[in-house]
Amino acid sequence: MGGGDEPLWPISFAESLPVPFVPTRYEVLDLVFEALQLREDDVFVDLGCGDGRVAVEAARRYPIRASVCVEARSDLVERAAKNAREAGVDDRVLVVRGDFFGQPLIGATAVYMYLLTSVNEALKPKLSKELKPGARVATLDFMIPGWKPVKVLGGSGWQRRVYLYVIGVSDK
Ligand SMILES: C[S@@+](CC[C@H](N)C(=O)[O-])C[C@H]1O[C@@H](n2cnc3c(N)ncnc32)[C@H](O)[C@@H]1O
Repeated sequence: MGGGDEPLWPISFAESLPVPFVPTRYEVLDLVFEALQLREDDVFVDLGCGDGRVAVEAARRYPIRASVCVEARSDLVERAAKNAREAGVDDRVLVVRGDFFGQPLIGATAVYMYLLTSVNEALKPKLSKELKPGARVATLDFMIPGWKPVKVLGGSGWQRRVYLYVIGVSDK
């Protein structure tokens, strides 16, 4: 090494993630679920699911088919799996460790993303290609640039803002 600013060791993928773990607060979940209107035939996916609270709560509150939690950080994956077990919904919550860019979304009907605008932008082609028309995508605080939300909830005073997009409508 030439004594520059380079790290001595390669930074692992999870440590280099552009989106830090900032959990959705439990009081904001009502707004997220009001936007998504989860139904029995839904397969819900939280892209970058952190400690799994949204995926676990989706399965706890609604009789959906499955709730998928995709997370890159192994410590959070373990916490998510533990949370699903403790909530008694581990039979319907699938916790996947990995990069959500590489996780197939085929079959997902409702997606949640609490990420940054730049990451939402980068996910656009994947969402449009892999989700079927009619699939709902809800984002917290950060919009999907260039897409037209069909609904915006919250946002007054201290409230957070949830954007709801529908594939085939918002991405045209
Ligand atoms: C703002 S937190 C949101 C956590 C959770 N969705 C919630 O609302 O409580 C974003 C999460 O995305 C994860 N993440 C960031 N980039 C990722 C990637 N490429 N693949 C998988 N997870 C990622 C981070 O580790 C972090 O836990």
